[in-house]
Amino acid sequence: MPCHLVTGGSGFIGSCYVLEARRRGVRVVNLDRLTYAGNPANLAPLQGDSGYTFVRGDIGNAELVNWLLQSHQPDAIVNFAAESHVDRSIVDPEAFVRTNVLGTATLLRVVAQWWGALPAEQAQAFRFLHVSTDEVYGSLQPGDPAFTETTPYSPNSPYSASKAASDHLVRAFHETYGLPVLLTNCSNNYGPRQFPEKLIPLMICNALDRKPLPVYGKGANIRDWLHVEDHCAAIARVLEAGNVGRCYNIGGHAEKTNLEVVQAVCGILDNLAPSVAGPYAGLVSFVADRPGHDFRYAIDSTRIETELGWKPAHNFESGLQDTVRWYLENTAWTENVRSGAYREWIAVNYAQRGPGGGN
Ligand code: NAD
Ligand code: DAU
Repeated sequence: MPCHLVTGGSGFIGSCYVLEARRRGVRVVNLDRLTYAGNPANLAPLQGDSGYTFVRGDIGNAELVNWLLQSHQPDAIVNFAAESHVDRSIVDPEAFVRTNVLGTATLLRVVAQWWGALPAEQAQAFRFLHVSTDEVYGSLQPGDPAFTETTPYSPNSPYSASKAASDHLVRAFHETYGLPVLLTNCSNNYGPRQFPEKLIPLMICNALDRKPLPVYGKGANIRDWLHVEDHCAAIARVLEAGNVGRCYNIGGHAEKTNLEVVQAVCGILDNLAPSVAGPYAGLVSFVADRPGHDFRYAIDSTRIETELGWKPAHNFESGLQDTVRWYLENTAWTENVRSGAYREWIAVNYAQRGPGGGN
Protein backbone atom coordinates (compact mmCIF):
# COMPACT_ATOMS: atom_id res chain seq x y z
CA MET A 1 0.00 0.00 0.00
CA PRO A 2 1.53 3.39 -0.97
CA CYS A 3 2.15 5.89 1.82
CA HIS A 4 1.78 9.68 1.55
CA LEU A 5 3.15 12.11 4.11
CA VAL A 6 0.62 14.93 3.88
CA THR A 7 1.42 18.25 5.57
CA GLY A 8 -1.42 20.58 6.56
CA GLY A 9 -3.87 17.70 6.13
CA SER A 10 -6.26 19.06 8.77
CA GLY A 11 -7.02 22.23 6.80
CA PHE A 12 -9.61 22.85 4.10
CA ILE A 13 -7.93 21.35 1.02
CA GLY A 14 -5.58 18.97 2.86
CA SER A 15 -8.48 17.24 4.63
CA CYS A 16 -10.30 16.73 1.33
CA TYR A 17 -7.10 15.21 -0.09
CA VAL A 18 -6.57 12.93 2.93
CA LEU A 19 -10.17 11.62 2.85
CA GLU A 20 -9.91 10.94 -0.88
CA ALA A 21 -6.47 9.29 -0.56
CA ARG A 22 -7.86 6.92 2.10
CA ARG A 23 -10.75 6.04 -0.24
CA ARG A 24 -8.10 5.08 -2.84
CA GLY A 25 -6.33 2.90 -0.27
CA VAL A 26 -3.31 5.17 0.19
CA ARG A 27 -1.81 5.04 3.71
CA VAL A 28 -1.65 8.61 5.06
CA VAL A 29 0.53 10.25 7.69
CA ASN A 30 -0.78 13.76 8.39
CA LEU A 31 1.69 16.27 9.87
CA ASP A 32 -0.25 19.35 10.95
CA ARG A 33 0.55 22.07 13.47
CA LEU A 34 -3.19 22.66 14.08
CA THR A 35 -3.13 26.42 13.78
CA TYR A 36 -6.47 28.23 13.97
CA ALA A 37 -7.15 26.84 10.44
CA GLY A 38 -6.39 23.21 11.24
CA ASN A 39 -9.36 21.27 12.55
CA PRO A 40 -9.24 17.62 13.66
CA ALA A 41 -13.02 17.44 13.11
CA ASN A 42 -12.33 17.66 9.36
CA LEU A 43 -10.92 14.14 9.56
CA ALA A 44 -13.38 12.69 12.07
CA PRO A 45 -14.49 10.00 9.55
CA LEU A 46 -10.97 8.49 9.86
CA GLN A 47 -11.20 7.81 13.59
CA GLY A 48 -10.08 4.23 14.19
CA ASP A 49 -8.71 3.89 10.64
CA SER A 50 -5.41 1.99 10.91
CA GLY A 51 -4.26 3.41 7.55
CA TYR A 52 -4.30 6.95 8.93
CA THR A 53 -1.79 8.48 11.36
CA PHE A 54 -2.04 12.00 12.76
CA VAL A 55 1.03 13.80 14.11
CA ARG A 56 0.73 17.27 15.55
CA GLY A 57 3.81 19.27 14.59
CA ASP A 58 5.47 21.88 12.44
CA ILE A 59 6.97 21.39 8.97
CA GLY A 60 9.85 23.52 10.27
CA ASN A 61 10.72 20.94 12.96
CA ALA A 62 13.63 19.16 11.26
CA GLU A 63 14.00 16.45 13.89
CA LEU A 64 10.32 15.53 13.78
CA VAL A 65 10.19 15.51 9.98
CA ASN A 66 13.31 13.33 9.82
CA TRP A 67 11.82 10.89 12.33
CA LEU A 68 8.59 10.67 10.28
CA LEU A 69 10.53 10.00 7.09
CA GLN A 70 12.68 7.32 8.71
CA SER A 71 9.76 5.57 10.37
CA HIS A 72 7.13 5.75 7.58
CA GLN A 73 9.31 5.76 4.42
CA PRO A 74 6.67 7.65 2.39
CA ASP A 75 6.39 7.23 -1.38
CA ALA A 76 5.32 10.87 -1.69
CA ILE A 77 5.03 14.09 0.27
CA VAL A 78 2.16 16.43 -0.48
CA ASN A 79 2.87 19.82 1.08
CA PHE A 80 -0.34 21.72 1.85
CA ALA A 81 0.93 23.25 5.11
CA ALA A 82 0.84 27.03 4.89
CA GLU A 83 -0.59 30.22 6.26
CA SER A 84 -3.20 30.74 3.56
CA HIS A 85 -5.24 33.90 4.14
CA VAL A 86 -4.25 37.09 2.30
CA ASP A 87 -5.92 39.47 4.79
CA ARG A 88 -4.05 37.89 7.72
CA SER A 89 -0.78 38.26 5.77
CA ILE A 90 -1.41 42.00 5.61
CA VAL A 91 -1.75 42.12 9.42
CA ASP A 92 1.10 39.69 10.30
CA PRO A 93 3.49 39.10 7.36
CA GLU A 94 6.22 37.39 9.40
CA ALA A 95 3.95 34.47 10.30
CA PHE A 96 3.72 33.78 6.57
CA VAL A 97 7.49 33.93 6.11
CA ARG A 98 7.98 31.56 9.06
CA THR A 99 5.78 28.77 7.75
CA ASN A 100 5.60 29.32 4.00
CA VAL A 101 9.26 30.21 3.43
CA LEU A 102 11.35 28.97 6.37
CA GLY A 103 9.11 25.98 7.10
CA THR A 104 9.15 24.86 3.47
CA ALA A 105 12.94 25.37 3.33
CA THR A 106 13.48 23.13 6.36
CA LEU A 107 11.05 20.52 5.06
CA LEU A 108 12.85 20.46 1.70
CA ARG A 109 16.31 20.22 3.30
CA VAL A 110 15.38 17.30 5.55
CA VAL A 111 13.52 15.51 2.78
CA ALA A 112 16.42 15.99 0.33
CA GLN A 113 18.91 14.56 2.87
CA TRP A 114 16.71 11.52 3.55
CA TRP A 115 15.93 11.02 -0.14
CA GLY A 116 19.62 11.24 -1.09
CA ALA A 117 20.38 8.17 1.02
CA LEU A 118 17.54 5.99 -0.32
CA PRO A 119 18.16 2.90 -2.46
CA ALA A 120 18.00 3.83 -6.16
CA GLU A 121 14.62 2.27 -6.91
CA GLN A 122 12.89 3.90 -3.92
CA ALA A 123 14.57 7.26 -4.66
CA GLN A 124 13.44 7.14 -8.28
CA ALA A 125 9.81 6.46 -7.41
CA PHE A 126 9.63 9.18 -4.69
CA ARG A 127 7.82 12.49 -5.35
CA PHE A 128 7.61 15.81 -3.46
CA LEU A 129 4.51 17.71 -4.52
CA HIS A 130 4.24 21.33 -3.44
CA VAL A 131 0.74 22.81 -3.48
CA SER A 132 0.84 26.44 -4.57
CA THR A 133 -1.42 29.18 -5.81
CA ASP A 134 -2.21 31.26 -8.89
CA GLU A 135 -1.62 34.38 -6.76
CA VAL A 136 2.14 34.10 -7.38
CA TYR A 137 1.52 35.38 -10.93
CA GLY A 138 0.09 38.70 -9.72
CA SER A 139 -2.94 40.49 -11.07
CA LEU A 140 -4.66 40.52 -14.49
CA GLN A 141 -6.79 43.19 -16.11
CA PRO A 142 -9.99 42.32 -18.01
CA GLY A 143 -9.06 40.92 -21.42
CA ASP A 144 -5.53 39.86 -20.41
CA PRO A 145 -4.70 36.26 -21.30
CA ALA A 146 -5.02 33.79 -18.40
CA PHE A 147 -1.93 32.73 -16.40
CA THR A 148 0.13 29.95 -17.99
CA GLU A 149 3.01 28.07 -16.35
CA THR A 150 5.45 30.50 -18.03
CA THR A 151 3.80 33.70 -16.78
CA PRO A 152 6.47 35.57 -14.77
CA TYR A 153 5.97 35.61 -11.00
CA SER A 154 4.77 38.99 -9.71
CA PRO A 155 3.29 38.49 -6.23
CA ASN A 156 1.58 41.47 -4.59
CA SER A 157 0.64 40.41 -1.04
CA PRO A 158 2.85 39.08 1.76
CA TYR A 159 0.93 35.79 1.34
CA SER A 160 1.60 35.45 -2.38
CA ALA A 161 5.21 36.66 -1.96
CA SER A 162 5.79 33.94 0.64
CA LYS A 163 4.20 31.30 -1.61
CA ALA A 164 6.32 32.53 -4.54
CA ALA A 165 9.44 32.18 -2.39
CA SER A 166 8.46 28.62 -1.45
CA ASP A 167 7.87 27.75 -5.12
CA HIS A 168 11.35 29.05 -5.98
CA LEU A 169 12.85 26.92 -3.20
CA VAL A 170 11.06 23.83 -4.51
CA ARG A 171 12.38 24.48 -8.00
CA ALA A 172 15.88 25.12 -6.60
CA PHE A 173 15.90 21.81 -4.71
CA HIS A 174 15.16 20.04 -7.97
CA GLU A 175 17.89 21.85 -9.89
CA THR A 176 20.50 21.71 -7.11
CA TYR A 177 19.93 18.36 -5.44
CA GLY A 178 17.84 16.53 -8.04
CA LEU A 179 14.89 16.16 -5.65
CA PRO A 180 11.95 14.83 -7.74
CA VAL A 181 9.52 17.69 -7.23
CA LEU A 182 6.16 18.58 -8.74
CA LEU A 183 4.50 21.95 -8.38
CA THR A 184 0.84 22.88 -8.74
CA ASN A 185 -0.57 26.42 -8.95
CA CYS A 186 -4.30 26.48 -8.36
CA SER A 187 -7.05 29.07 -8.43
CA ASN A 188 -9.60 29.83 -5.66
CA ASN A 189 -11.12 26.72 -4.09
CA TYR A 190 -14.58 26.39 -2.61
CA GLY A 191 -16.40 23.49 -0.98
CA PRO A 192 -17.13 21.92 2.42
CA ARG A 193 -14.93 22.54 5.49
CA GLN A 194 -13.46 25.88 4.32
CA PHE A 195 -12.63 28.11 7.27
CA PRO A 196 -15.17 30.97 7.45
CA GLU A 197 -12.55 33.72 7.07
CA LYS A 198 -12.62 33.14 3.28
CA LEU A 199 -15.20 34.78 1.01
CA ILE A 200 -17.79 32.05 0.43
CA PRO A 201 -18.10 30.51 3.92
CA LEU A 202 -17.86 33.96 5.54
CA MET A 203 -20.80 35.14 3.45
CA ILE A 204 -22.85 32.01 4.24
CA CYS A 205 -22.21 32.30 7.99
CA ASN A 206 -22.82 36.06 8.14
CA ALA A 207 -26.02 35.76 6.07
CA LEU A 208 -27.43 33.08 8.35
CA ASP A 209 -26.65 35.32 11.35
CA ARG A 210 -28.28 38.28 9.52
CA LYS A 211 -24.97 40.17 9.74
CA PRO A 212 -23.65 42.51 7.00
CA LEU A 213 -21.99 40.80 4.00
CA PRO A 214 -18.73 42.78 3.70
CA VAL A 215 -17.82 43.13 0.01
CA TYR A 216 -14.43 44.80 -0.54
CA GLY A 217 -14.38 47.86 -2.82
CA LYS A 218 -17.03 47.57 -5.53
CA GLY A 219 -17.09 43.75 -5.57
CA ALA A 220 -15.73 43.90 -9.13
CA ASN A 221 -12.57 41.82 -8.50
CA ILE A 222 -12.56 38.52 -10.34
CA ARG A 223 -11.55 35.07 -9.13
CA ASP A 224 -11.54 31.73 -11.01
CA TRP A 225 -13.37 29.21 -8.80
CA LEU A 226 -12.66 25.49 -8.56
CA HIS A 227 -14.34 22.88 -6.37
CA VAL A 228 -11.91 21.50 -3.77
CA GLU A 229 -12.56 17.91 -4.90
CA ASP A 230 -11.46 18.84 -8.43
CA HIS A 231 -8.29 20.39 -7.01
CA CYS A 232 -7.52 17.21 -5.05
CA ALA A 233 -8.20 15.02 -8.10
CA ALA A 234 -5.76 17.18 -10.07
CA ILE A 235 -3.09 16.79 -7.37
CA ALA A 236 -3.55 13.01 -7.37
CA ARG A 237 -3.23 12.96 -11.16
CA VAL A 238 -0.06 15.11 -11.12
CA LEU A 239 1.46 12.80 -8.50
CA GLU A 240 0.60 9.79 -10.61
CA ALA A 241 1.73 11.00 -14.03
CA GLY A 242 3.26 14.49 -13.82
CA ASN A 243 6.71 15.10 -15.24
CA VAL A 244 9.31 15.59 -12.52
CA GLY A 245 10.43 19.20 -12.12
CA ARG A 246 7.37 20.50 -13.93
CA CYS A 247 4.59 22.79 -12.69
CA TYR A 248 0.91 22.51 -13.54
CA ASN A 249 -1.71 25.26 -13.41
CA ILE A 250 -5.11 24.12 -12.13
CA GLY A 251 -8.28 26.16 -12.66
CA GLY A 252 -12.03 25.87 -12.94
CA HIS A 253 -12.94 27.93 -16.05
CA ALA A 254 -15.30 29.77 -13.70
CA GLU A 255 -14.37 33.44 -13.53
CA LYS A 256 -16.80 35.45 -11.42
CA THR A 257 -16.79 38.87 -9.82
CA ASN A 258 -16.98 38.79 -6.04
CA LEU A 259 -20.38 40.48 -6.18
CA GLU A 260 -21.65 37.73 -8.52
CA VAL A 261 -20.42 35.09 -6.05
CA VAL A 262 -22.04 36.83 -3.06
CA GLN A 263 -25.32 37.29 -4.95
CA ALA A 264 -25.26 33.60 -5.98
CA VAL A 265 -24.75 32.55 -2.34
CA CYS A 266 -27.67 34.81 -1.33
CA GLY A 267 -29.92 33.37 -4.05
CA ILE A 268 -29.19 29.79 -2.93
CA LEU A 269 -29.88 30.71 0.70
CA ASP A 270 -33.14 32.40 -0.31
CA ASN A 271 -34.24 29.02 -1.70
CA LEU A 272 -32.81 26.68 0.93
CA ALA A 273 -33.23 28.79 4.08
CA PRO A 274 -35.66 31.66 3.32
CA SER A 275 -35.65 34.42 5.92
CA VAL A 276 -38.75 36.28 7.08
CA ALA A 277 -36.51 39.38 7.23
CA GLY A 278 -36.28 39.42 3.39
CA PRO A 279 -33.76 38.41 0.70
CA TYR A 280 -30.21 37.87 1.96
CA ALA A 281 -28.79 40.16 -0.77
CA GLY A 282 -30.20 43.05 1.27
CA LEU A 283 -27.35 42.42 3.73
CA VAL A 284 -24.61 43.26 1.19
CA SER A 285 -22.41 46.02 2.57
CA PHE A 286 -19.57 47.55 0.53
CA VAL A 287 -16.51 48.11 2.73
CA ALA A 288 -13.04 49.57 2.24
CA ASP A 289 -10.92 47.59 -0.17
CA ARG A 290 -8.12 45.15 0.67
CA PRO A 291 -4.76 46.99 0.29
CA GLY A 292 -2.96 45.84 -2.87
CA HIS A 293 -6.07 43.90 -3.90
CA ASP A 294 -5.31 41.83 -7.03
CA PHE A 295 -7.99 42.65 -9.58
CA ARG A 296 -8.33 39.42 -11.52
CA TYR A 297 -6.98 35.85 -11.55
CA ALA A 298 -7.59 33.46 -14.44
CA ILE A 299 -5.94 30.11 -15.07
CA ASP A 300 -5.01 28.53 -18.37
CA SER A 301 -5.05 24.84 -17.48
CA THR A 302 -4.25 23.56 -20.98
CA ARG A 303 -1.09 21.77 -19.77
CA ILE A 304 -2.74 19.55 -17.15
CA GLU A 305 -5.76 18.97 -19.39
CA THR A 306 -3.79 17.92 -22.47
CA GLU A 307 -0.77 16.21 -20.88
CA LEU A 308 -2.53 14.48 -17.98
CA GLY A 309 -6.18 14.33 -19.08
CA TRP A 310 -7.52 16.12 -15.98
CA LYS A 311 -10.68 18.20 -16.21
CA PRO A 312 -12.92 19.64 -13.47
CA ALA A 313 -15.95 17.45 -12.75
CA HIS A 314 -18.02 20.04 -10.87
CA ASN A 315 -19.63 23.12 -12.35
CA PHE A 316 -19.70 26.27 -10.22
CA GLU A 317 -23.49 26.59 -9.95
CA SER A 318 -24.22 23.08 -8.63
CA GLY A 319 -20.94 22.96 -6.67
CA LEU A 320 -21.87 26.19 -4.88
CA GLN A 321 -25.37 24.88 -4.17
CA ASP A 322 -23.87 21.72 -2.59
CA THR A 323 -21.45 23.84 -0.58
CA VAL A 324 -24.16 26.07 0.84
CA ARG A 325 -26.18 22.96 1.70
CA TRP A 326 -23.12 21.50 3.52
CA TYR A 327 -22.86 24.60 5.72
CA LEU A 328 -26.60 24.49 6.45
CA GLU A 329 -26.30 20.84 7.50
CA ASN A 330 -23.10 21.30 9.55
CA THR A 331 -23.82 24.22 11.83
CA ALA A 332 -22.06 22.46 14.74
CA TRP A 333 -18.82 22.46 12.69
CA THR A 334 -19.19 26.18 12.01
CA GLU A 335 -20.05 27.04 15.61
CA ASN A 336 -17.02 25.11 16.79
CA VAL A 337 -14.53 26.98 14.59
CA ARG A 338 -15.99 30.42 15.28
CA SER A 339 -14.33 30.56 18.68
CA GLY A 340 -13.07 33.58 20.59
CA ALA A 341 -9.96 33.69 18.37
CA TYR A 342 -12.19 33.81 15.27
CA ARG A 343 -14.23 36.66 16.70
CA GLU A 344 -11.02 38.56 17.48
CA TRP A 345 -9.90 38.17 13.85
CA ILE A 346 -13.27 39.39 12.53
CA ALA A 347 -12.95 42.45 14.76
CA VAL A 348 -9.39 43.15 13.53
CA ASN A 349 -10.26 42.75 9.85
CA TYR A 350 -13.66 44.42 9.65
CA ALA A 351 -14.23 46.78 12.60
CA GLN A 352 -11.89 49.49 11.29
CA ARG A 353 -12.92 49.29 7.62
CA GLY A 354 -14.70 52.35 6.27
CA PRO A 355 -17.29 52.20 3.50
CA GLY A 356 -16.32 50.79 0.09
CA GLY A 357 -16.96 51.98 -3.42
CA GLY A 358 -20.07 49.94 -4.27
CA ASN A 359 -23.64 51.22 -4.25
P1 NAD B 1 -5.91 26.18 5.36
O1 NAD B 1 -5.47 27.46 5.98
O2 NAD B 1 -7.33 25.77 5.44
O3 NAD B 1 -5.05 24.96 5.96
C1 NAD B 1 -3.68 25.04 6.22
C2 NAD B 1 -3.29 23.87 7.12
O4 NAD B 1 -1.88 23.90 7.34
C3 NAD B 1 -3.96 23.91 8.51
O5 NAD B 1 -4.43 22.64 8.85
C4 NAD B 1 -2.82 24.36 9.43
O6 NAD B 1 -2.98 23.90 10.77
C5 NAD B 1 -1.62 23.74 8.74
N1 NAD B 1 -0.36 24.42 9.05
C6 NAD B 1 -0.12 25.76 9.02
N2 NAD B 1 1.15 26.01 9.35
C7 NAD B 1 1.75 24.80 9.56
C8 NAD B 1 3.07 24.41 9.91
N3 NAD B 1 4.03 25.31 10.11
N4 NAD B 1 3.33 23.08 10.01
C9 NAD B 1 2.36 22.16 9.81
N5 NAD B 1 1.09 22.48 9.51
C10 NAD B 1 0.79 23.79 9.38
O7 NAD B 1 -5.41 26.27 3.86
P2 NAD B 1 -6.04 25.64 2.53
O8 NAD B 1 -6.99 26.61 1.95
O9 NAD B 1 -6.45 24.25 2.79
O10 NAD B 1 -4.73 25.65 1.59
C11 NAD B 1 -3.83 24.57 1.58
C12 NAD B 1 -2.71 24.86 0.62
O11 NAD B 1 -3.23 25.12 -0.67
C13 NAD B 1 -1.89 26.11 0.99
O12 NAD B 1 -0.54 25.84 0.71
C14 NAD B 1 -2.43 27.20 0.06
O13 NAD B 1 -1.44 28.15 -0.21
C15 NAD B 1 -2.79 26.38 -1.16
N6 NAD B 1 -3.86 26.90 -2.01
C16 NAD B 1 -5.07 27.26 -1.45
C17 NAD B 1 -6.11 27.68 -2.29
C18 NAD B 1 -7.46 28.07 -1.73
O14 NAD B 1 -8.30 28.58 -2.48
N7 NAD B 1 -7.76 27.83 -0.46
C19 NAD B 1 -5.90 27.76 -3.67
C20 NAD B 1 -4.64 27.41 -4.18
C21 NAD B 1 -3.65 26.96 -3.35
O1 DAU C 1 -6.29 32.24 -5.80
C1 DAU C 1 -5.97 31.25 -4.86
C2 DAU C 1 -6.03 31.83 -3.47
O2 DAU C 1 -7.42 32.00 -3.16
C3 DAU C 1 -5.37 30.97 -2.43
O3 DAU C 1 -3.99 30.89 -2.70
C4 DAU C 1 -5.59 31.53 -1.01
O4 DAU C 1 -5.05 30.64 -0.05
C5 DAU C 1 -7.08 31.67 -0.79
O5 DAU C 1 -7.31 32.28 0.47
C6 DAU C 1 -7.70 32.51 -1.89
O6 DAU C 1 -7.24 33.89 -1.80
P1 DAU C 1 -8.26 35.11 -2.00
O7 DAU C 1 -7.68 36.30 -1.38
O8 DAU C 1 -8.69 35.22 -3.43
O9 DAU C 1 -9.51 34.52 -1.16
P2 DAU C 1 -10.54 35.23 -0.17
O10 DAU C 1 -11.63 34.22 0.07
O11 DAU C 1 -9.89 35.83 1.02
O12 DAU C 1 -11.13 36.40 -1.04
C7 DAU C 1 -11.75 36.16 -2.30
C8 DAU C 1 -12.14 37.51 -2.88
O13 DAU C 1 -13.20 38.07 -2.10
C9 DAU C 1 -11.02 38.53 -2.88
O14 DAU C 1 -11.10 39.32 -4.06
C10 DAU C 1 -11.32 39.39 -1.65
C11 DAU C 1 -12.83 39.34 -1.56
N1 DAU C 1 -13.39 39.41 -0.19
C12 DAU C 1 -12.90 38.55 0.75
C13 DAU C 1 -13.37 38.58 2.05
C14 DAU C 1 -12.82 37.65 3.09
C15 DAU C 1 -14.41 40.30 0.11
O15 DAU C 1 -14.88 41.06 -0.78
N2 DAU C 1 -14.89 40.34 1.38
C16 DAU C 1 -14.40 39.54 2.37
O16 DAU C 1 -14.87 39.66 3.53
